[in-house]
Amino acid sequence: MLQGKRIVLGVCGGIAVYKVADLTSKLQQAGALVDVILTAHAAEFVRPLTFSTVSHRPVYTDLWEPTGQAAARHIELGAAADLLVVAPATANTIARLAHGLADDMLTAVALSTMAPLLLAPAMEHHMYQHPATQANLRLLAERGATIIPPETGHLASGEIGAGRLPETPVLLTHIRRLLGRDGDLAGRRVVVTAGGTQEPIDPVRYIGNRSSGLMGFALAEEARDRGADVTLIVGATNTPPPDGMRVLHTPTALAMRDAVREAVAQADALVMAAAVADYRVSEPATQKIKKGSAAENADGSLTLHLVRNPDILAELAEERALDGLVRVGFAAETTDLERNATKKLKSKRLNLLVANDVSKAGSGFGTITNEVTLYHADGRIEPLALLPKTEVAAAIWDRIVPLLKHKT
Ligand code: C5P
Repeated sequence: MLQGKRIVLGVCGGIAVYKVADLTSKLQQAGALVDVILTAHAAEFVRPLTFSTVSHRPVYTDLWEPTGQAAARHIELGAAADLLVVAPATANTIARLAHGLADDMLTAVALSTMAPLLLAPAMEHHMYQHPATQANLRLLAERGATIIPPETGHLASGEIGAGRLPETPVLLTHIRRLLGRDGDLAGRRVVVTAGGTQEPIDPVRYIGNRSSGLMGFALAEEARDRGADVTLIVGATNTPPPDGMRVLHTPTALAMRDAVREAVAQADALVMAAAVADYRVSEPATQKIKKGSAAENADGSLTLHLVRNPDILAELAEERALDGLVRVGFAAETTDLERNATKKLKSKRLNLLVANDVSKAGSGFGTITNEVTLYHADGRIEPLALLPKTEVAAAIWDRIVPLLKHKT
């Protein structure tokens, strides 16, 4: 998503500049070409060298630098930009942008570019709350700018209030979303499930599985970054879910089934990456089961009676009203991969089944890589190399996009 994207990053003179050096570095690492412009006030806080070292590109401060080319630098930067980000955006620069001033490099680029504008205001909270600043932000939003609200917390002034620049991952999410808004999933609603489920035994114990949720999270993020409206339905995982999507937490298979059924009614695609428990305890104990209690058998053993959970995908396969929904299932197997995969593809009426042998090194639960084989409804079998889960996610969406029904 960020690979090869031209991002002009305008940095204003606020103490949060130090955080933006980290943002620049992360964007560069993700393959973006970041042209940093420092306002005169920003250059008082930090030297251009800090930014050019992490962006690996020149940093601009001077509107009047001769380029020796037909187009002045501000025109050239503005024309090439896929996105203009201003972070931290100070009250002064917000005012200059709102009123169309072009008295430095950053504001001149902002006027000359057709790229979307993303602003991350960060300042002392009275300055942020001031009616002038708020009116300027409203004006910019009306003209199409996206504003990332500042966070509330300790400010450099020593006070507590709204004015902190959000951390890099939050800024990155906004950047990815804006860049993806015209992506191949723009306007599509997709539902992704992730993680394992936890089936209660008693109020403190459960039956779970080793699913980390990482594959599902990678799929949800990739869809978001291609412009989709994502509903992520998460079972049990220790990893926080990604930003920029609707997240529903459903610890048990039954709760996940209800959430999926509701979400798919409006969706174009469902990707079931969750490891849903096949069985649950028929009647979980209402109190913690104690050793030696009446719950035990005479010989000290404990019997749990398990019943089958509904198969969410198999149930949806029966619903004719959902025929237009593109469905993708996962199969984690330890034996007979091909036979099991082909069987599931048919019985669950899937468009695509992503199968992996979880007993292989580097594949399956908890790893950041995965080696999968794609089983297509038309019989094609497509093995993929061992790849980072992010790349597996991209490959899966590449296969889903052509299957989506034409928008009416
Ligand atoms: O049959 P198996 O559990 O191996 O199928 C795996 C696929 O079916 C996964 O996509 C999983 O999310 C989905 N599944 C389901 N409901 C269940 C169990 C699995 O939708 N109860």
